[in-house]
Amino acid sequence: MAEKVTPDDIYGEHRANMEKVLDRLVGKAMELRERTREEQGLDPVEHILARIKSDQSMREKLARKGLPITTEAALTQVNDALGVRIVCAFLNDVYAMRDHLASDPGVEVVEERDYILHAKPNGYRSYHMILHTEEGYYAEVQLRTISMDTWAALEHHLQYKKERVGNQNLIVRELKRCADELASTDVSMQTLRDAILGVD
Ligand code: GTP
Ligand code: MG
Repeated sequence: MAEKVTPDDIYGEHRANMEKVLDRLVGKAMELRERTREEQGLDPVEHILARIKSDQSMREKLARKGLPITTEAALTQVNDALGVRIVCAFLNDVYAMRDHLASDPGVEVVEERDYILHAKPNGYRSYHMILHTEEGYYAEVQLRTISMDTWAALEHHLQYKKERVGNQNLIVRELKRCADELASTDVSMQTLRDAILGVD
């Protein structure tokens, strides 16, 4: 990876390999999904999104961070060229998925942030992991419940409308309140599921 001229595709000859790695990570998540379906008759996953960060977004991120616009920087200085988001039905499923992915001998967990236990000040919740795969790529994995995903999607929409709205303090406060209400609903839903399944 010593190219001086940046190829048209920021990922150069790595792209095909990156797609394979992404598929493998999704496959790993599918293992737990299928096992849990068989054992409990319940699908722990609502949906999975996997993406390679777009060429344009990667170039913008490198520029923003003052890094060279090269394949090497994209693959070694930024850790979310590969991204997997797994939206789970219940809180426990998030942590079960975390354990399952971390147990993969083909990956090393190089960073973990539990924004569920420690929500961001704005209310954002999710479990983030940075993996380094045996093929030499970094991947950011975001694990969250449906409620957390709903909040993050709405908050993301609002970020683009900021300049049009009036009372910033009110909006920030209400967003945080919604996040906290959703978090409390997640706990109630987990309790309900445990009661339905007869778990103590
Ligand atoms: P980077 O330098 O961009 O990698 O930031 P970071 O390493 O501080 O990562 P962080 O864990 O804060 O966020 C990574 C990703 O999580 C973002 O690209 C978003 O997809 C998601 N995320 C983090 N915070 C928020 C938030 O407040 N709102 C929403 N909607 N998404 C968020
Ligand atoms: Mg990051």
